[in-house]
Amino acid sequence: MSHQLLKGKKGIIFGALDERSIAWKTALAAVAEGAEIVLTNAPIALRMGKINELAKLCNAQVIPADATNTADIENLMTKSMEILGGKLDFILHSIGMSPNVRKNIPYTDTNYDNFLKTIDISALSLHRVCQVAMKADAMNEWGSILGLSYIAAQRVFPGYNDMADTKAMLESIARSFGYQYGITKKVRINTISQSPTVTTAGSGVSGFDVFYHYSEKISPLGNASAEDCANYCVMMFSDYTRMVTMQNLFHDGGFSNTGVSHALVEDLLKANTTPNP
Ligand SMILES: NC(=O)c1ccc[n+]([C@@H]2O[C@H](COP(=O)([O-])OP(=O)(O)OC[C@H]3O[C@@H](n4cnc5c(N)ncnc54)[C@H](O)[C@@H]3O)[C@@H](O)[C@H]2O)c1
Repeated sequence: MSHQLLKGKKGIIFGALDERSIAWKTALAAVAEGAEIVLTNAPIALRMGKINELAKLCNAQVIPADATNTADIENLMTKSMEILGGKLDFILHSIGMSPNVRKNIPYTDTNYDNFLKTIDISALSLHRVCQVAMKADAMNEWGSILGLSYIAAQRVFPGYNDMADTKAMLESIARSFGYQYGITKKVRINTISQSPTVTTAGSGVSGFDVFYHYSEKISPLGNASAEDCANYCVMMFSDYTRMVTMQNLFHDGGFSNTGVSHALVEDLLKANTTPNP
């Protein structure tokens, strides 16, 4: 179902680890819509993941870059423009990692070195990418930069741990840098707040299965899949959304605006957990 929405557009996609990754699906969708892309991930992820398989499918080159390292991002930006033969039209920042989540350290007992790493990898890296792109004048006017967020930035999901605070920061950086990049270069920056999705990063969160099913029950449309998210990213990279910037866009089947659903009530009644009148 290709509409060539990204024909002639060039971009960088961060964060494709394996075929479940949202970035993996987005790379395939962007190329199917006519884009030319460069793929990147942290050096360790390149060794452990399957990005070279994706590169073949997308006819794309892979450039390693640790998103916490400014020199790596500068190198990525320069080389991508050489490979693609010009400035960029879009960047997908699909990066998240929390050492506290990985090590199952409770939020109230957080390790602050880990917390700082979470922020550096999962939020400041968006600022770093935008800053390097701006300094290198790497983006075309009306270009689109996207980060991926989760509703734990607004509401409490205890197992999401320090990633919740970090996503709130990511969304704030999209607004603050979006303002600056908008007035100087008409570049757009947004975050997409995605449903729980079965990926390496997603499944690492404690209680993931429970809130995946809870969210599926609550959302009128059900959970949005990684493929659905990829299509939304394509639309956000396209000229059809050229006036959208500085937004956190919920892509969650209606979860964020639903209090309770018939499906959940029925389940609770069946389990006989309703209080006596
Ligand atoms: N899966 C979900 O339920 C869900 C829901 C909402 C938002 N998100 C967000 O979507 C994004 C993509 O995650 P995903 O679910 O596709 O999982 P994923 O594990 O496939 O992707 C996360 C990526 O981050 C990369 N990464 C980690 N540290 C890095 C570093 N220092 N430098 C560069 N890259 C680094 C990993 O190598 C990996 O490719 C993340 O921001 C995540 O928080 C995921």
